[in-house]
Amino acid sequence: MGHRTLRATEMSQQGTRLMSAGIPVVIDSDPGVDDALALALALVSPELSVRAVTTVAGNVDLATGTANAGYLLRVLAAGRGIRLAQGCARPLARELVTAEEVHGSDGLAGITGHERWRRRSSDSTNVPSDTVDAIIDEVANSPEPLTVIALGPLTNVAAALRRDPAAMRRAAAIVVMGGSLHAGGNVTPQAEFNFYVDPEAADAVMASGLPVVVTPLDVTHQLAVSDATVESRLQSRSEPRAAFLGELIQRARAEEFTGRGGKLLLHDPAAVATLLWPELFTMQAHALAVDGGDGDQRGAMRSTGDEGGTERTRAEVAVDVEANEVVSRIVERLVAGGA
Ligand code: BDR
Ligand code: CA
Repeated sequence: MGHRTLRATEMSQQGTRLMSAGIPVVIDSDPGVDDALALALALVSPELSVRAVTTVAGNVDLATGTANAGYLLRVLAAGRGIRLAQGCARPLARELVTAEEVHGSDGLAGITGHERWRRRSSDSTNVPSDTVDAIIDEVANSPEPLTVIALGPLTNVAAALRRDPAAMRRAAAIVVMGGSLHAGGNVTPQAEFNFYVDPEAADAVMASGLPVVVTPLDVTHQLAVSDATVESRLQSRSEPRAAFLGELIQRARAEEFTGRGGKLLLHDPAAVATLLWPELFTMQAHALAVDGGDGDQRGAMRSTGDEGGTERTRAEVAVDVEANEVVSRIVERLVAGGA
């Protein structure tokens, strides 16, 4: 199976180059508890400049996801004027599958029903209607090459590629949370949720020829918050933002959601972390394919083993991680809140 392992120094140099200029990003997401934590991480990280948050149907239906994204921007980034756009309501070629059993019926572990953190109707108003245009616009018009961080099914990104492939070729990278190389699935024995929901979109992105970075279950299953220390540290801070994240984590660690003895996996923050701290990840280059169909391989990601010269993207895939260090850096960032 042909692949090349990037040395940590190479990744680090890449990271330093990106850091010195700052990285403009669009976050495409289906919030989602771990999406919320990923957004919070990106918003407090000076290495990133969040230009827009765009929504896609996935963990919850599109309207709920968009309301959540607007709500998260109010709680976590009030006054920063970050663009919000609403994307595709269903996968490219099939019915939507959601994950309320993992994220709660509101997608945020029930926190929006809490008196202090209630969602307002204004959280989802004034939403420009078209995420696909917003992604194309941000990628095409960014003075510095822009990175799309995709934390849900890849429907919006694939639709943007179809609508304006030339504009999308200006992207610095598409950083994807999704798939599983050797770790097995979390929806079926083979498939990870984001790729299972829209395998045609995932395959289109992997075939696009764009620079793609994939953060699969192989690493995200190593990254967890598993005790109450993090939430109590957050809740002891005076800023509402920190109290909110503490409450969110506490709720999401409840057995009914994790089914894993209080272990909350940091899937989506891991994708953001590959941009922030590339030196903590081991990357391999793979040409990837994602299975369509409705059989037991639906949504399964595989390396084609193709070394040479096809148009299919050779993605950089995170295959291992310095897990303790990444979790600790994510937690410290969330607790410090950019202070
Ligand atoms: C992915 O699926 C979703 O439930 C999470 O938000 C994450 O993006 C993990 O498989
Ligand atoms: Ca997600």
